[in-house]
Amino acid sequence: MTASRTQVGIIGAGPSGLLLSQLLDLGGVDSVVLERRSRDYVLARVRAGVLEQGVVEILRAAGVGARLDREGLVHRGVAITAGEERYHIDFAAHGASLTVYGQTELTKDLVEAREARGSTLVYEAEDLAIEGVDGKQPRLHYHKGGAEHVLECDFVAGCDGFHGVSRKSIPASVLKTHERVYPFGWLGVLADVPPVSPELVYASHESGFALCSMRSATRSRCYVQCSLDDTVEQWSDARFWDELCARLPAEVARGLRSAPSIEKSIAPLRSFVAEPLRHGRLLLAGDAAHIVPPTGAKGLNLAVRDVDQLAAALIAHYREHSDALLDGYSATALRRIWKAERFSAWLTSVLHLFPGRSSFDRRMQLAELDQLASSAAARAAFVESYTGAAPL
Ligand code: APR
Ligand code: PHB
Repeated sequence: MTASRTQVGIIGAGPSGLLLSQLLDLGGVDSVVLERRSRDYVLARVRAGVLEQGVVEILRAAGVGARLDREGLVHRGVAITAGEERYHIDFAAHGASLTVYGQTELTKDLVEAREARGSTLVYEAEDLAIEGVDGKQPRLHYHKGGAEHVLECDFVAGCDGFHGVSRKSIPASVLKTHERVYPFGWLGVLADVPPVSPELVYASHESGFALCSMRSATRSRCYVQCSLDDTVEQWSDARFWDELCARLPAEVARGLRSAPSIEKSIAPLRSFVAEPLRHGRLLLAGDAAHIVPPTGAKGLNLAVRDVDQLAAALIAHYREHSDALLDGYSATALRRIWKAERFSAWLTSVLHLFPGRSSFDRRMQLAELDQLASSAAARAAFVESYTGAAPL
C-alpha cells in the first residue's frame, strides 16, 4: 500500500473538482484530485454550455477565463416560442448577459491550468472508499494500476457527481434527499451547422419541447424532448432534424440546416437536492449535491458557485483559522440551490409536453408564456433567475 497526504482530498475531476482544486491552489491550499475515469474520457464529455456573468467572473479569477473571453459567445437575450408565437426576452434592459461556452472547453481549460501548475490529478483511481470523515483525519482508499493507495487528508470534497460515492457515505440517519423525476428525456445532438438563430431558442410545442443552442458560429447543440423509453438508435439524424424543425415556428425553422451528428445522447431529467451538504470533514459540491433539469441551464452555474463558496471556506480555515464559512457552507449553498431548483422546475413545467396533461394544463402553460410577453415585472423576474443577475 502506498500512503500519501494532502490538505483537501477531492473526489472527481469534473468541473467542480477541477475548479475547486484550482481555487484552493491559488489560495495556498494543497489538494489531490482522484478521478475514476481516464483523462481522455474526462476531456471528451459533452455537457452544458451556458455561463452566468457571475460565473464567468469566478472563472476569470480562477485564471481560466482567457479562452472563454476570446471564444465565448455573449448573449443579451433569449427566444421562447410556442407554436408559431415567438417571444424575445431582452437581458440587456436588466444589465444582464450570459456567455455560451461549452463545458467540454471549460474542462479542457481547467485541466490545462491544473497541469500547468503541477497539480496532482490521479486518473483511473478505482474502488474509491471514504473513511473517517467523522474524525479529524479522513482517508481515501483507492486502487490504481493494480496497487492499493491511501490518501490522508484534513477534508474530503465530494465532487463526484450524482452517481458518485461521497453522498452515499453520509449516514442515512443524517442525509435527507428531495427528488422529482420527469416523465421524459432530452435527446441532444452536436453538429457542425450554423446556429438557427443568434440567440438560444426554447420551443414549447404540442409535440414536445425543443431547444436550439450552440457552441460556436459554426457548431450547434440542439435538443428535442423524447420518451424515456427511446434509445439513440431509434433516432436517426434525419428523424431528429425533422422533429426539431416541426417544433419550431416556420420563421425560425427556415434557418435550420442539418448535418451528421458528431455526438448524440439521451439524458433523463431530474430535480434533486441532498441535505446537508456537510457531514464532519466531508463537503459536497456540484452534481454530488444537486441535480436540476437542464431547462434552466443551471447545473454548471450552480456547481461553479458551490465550489467558489467552498474554496473560500477552506482557505479561511487554513489561512485565518476561522471555520465560520465552513460552518455556514451548507445553509448558504442550499438557499442558492433551492432558488435554482425552483426556477428550473418551473421552466420545465411550462415548456414540456407532460403525458396525460389536460387542455387546461396546456392553457396554463400558454398563460405563463403570455405573462412573460405582457408583463415587464414577469420578464424582470425571469431574467434575474435565468441569467443569475441577482445571485441566487
Ligand atoms: N471515484 C472517483 N471519481 C468519481 C467517482 C468515484 N467513485 N464517481 C464519479 N466520479 C467522477 C466522474 O467520473 C466525473 O468525472 O466525478 C466526476 C463528476 O463530474 P460531473 O458529473 O460533471 O459533476 P460536477 O463536476 O459536479 O459538474 C457538474 O457537470 O454533469 C454536468 O450538468 C452537470 O453541468 C453540470 C456539471
Ligand atoms: C446547451 O447549450 O447545451 C444548453 C443551453 C441551454 C440549456 C440547456 C443546455 O437550457
